[in-house]
Amino acid sequence: MKNNTKYFEQLGIMTSAVNEKQHDSLQAMITEIRKLKKEKNAKILSHYYMPASIQITEELGGIADFTGDSLGLSVNAMNVSADHIIFCGVKFMAETAKILNSSKNILLPDMHAGCSLASSITGKDVIELKRQHPGVPVIAYINTYAETKAEVDVCCTSRNALKIAKSFKEDKLIFVPDEFMGRNLRSVITRETGKEMILWSGKCEVHEQFNKRMIDSYTLEYPEAEVLVHWEVPDEAVNSSLKIRKGIVGSTLDILNYVGKSNAQQFILGSECDLGATLKGMYRDKEFVTPCISCPHMKTITMENTLEALRAIGTADEEKYLVDVPEPILSRAYIPIKRMIDLS
Ligand code: 13P
Ligand code: SF4
Repeated sequence: MKNNTKYFEQLGIMTSAVNEKQHDSLQAMITEIRKLKKEKNAKILSHYYMPASIQITEELGGIADFTGDSLGLSVNAMNVSADHIIFCGVKFMAETAKILNSSKNILLPDMHAGCSLASSITGKDVIELKRQHPGVPVIAYINTYAETKAEVDVCCTSRNALKIAKSFKEDKLIFVPDEFMGRNLRSVITRETGKEMILWSGKCEVHEQFNKRMIDSYTLEYPEAEVLVHWEVPDEAVNSSLKIRKGIVGSTLDILNYVGKSNAQQFILGSECDLGATLKGMYRDKEFVTPCISCPHMKTITMENTLEALRAIGTADEEKYLVDVPEPILSRAYIPIKRMIDLS
């Protein structure tokens, strides 16, 4: 092993080992990225669904300044003082960073990094929902585009959704756009508060695949394992697995924290494949089994295009990476996001 041993040890734990050729090219890219970040006064923020090679932080020899879930990334982006943020995540996340810290340049290494939930609803749809249900507050999952956020009362992430929904005094709420997450939340909220929830029909194309049949076959195959399922997983699969097994339905961070507190050795993961890598890197003595379903949008971001985005800063190419949220959408979308952060 050459230099940067910590990075390659961590990468080896999180992925199948890299070969000598990949090792040399990764090493060269890490060195250049770290140098360019300093020269161009840039920070890299990464979601836990990024490939292991990107989400490993600088302190472990990697390239990310911060790796987190969608709430952690929003709060972190708000406080970045560097001139540029390279956002290793999907577009709605980069837009949220721009809305919260609009004087900074937010660069997304691939503008095609979309999301099936975010594209399932528009601002016009929210206006129509409000017309149909006058006076009913609208809560939007952060997985929406800025023009949708501009029309809602408050945003939430998977980590604070329950708290935010409970903070409303109204007995009816609209939650958009994730239907399965809405159904999972609704069963808790209705049980605890009696509130009614009106839902939209958006789906996460990754988490909807963890259906009852799939989770049931994993629980059968791994009789000792506990179950880790994201809020976005179909409620039928969540309910049937957590009836027979210990485990958690929650956000990405809830899942990471749960494993830290559990005495179990083996876990069935019902969430994005690279969260399995994160878990493996954090809890080396535990085993994680998963069908390993990847988000194709998250995976458009690579070490190569992250490096290209950094190189482009200050050149004519910079424009193609810059995330722009025009006014008045930016100011209008700021209100529900800030309200969410204040309530968190
Ligand atoms: P969290 O990071 O809030 O758990 O969201 C998961 C997700 O699907 C992001 O796209
Ligand atoms: Fe969207 Fe699902 Fe991908 Fe998250 S995992 S970005 S919700 S498609």
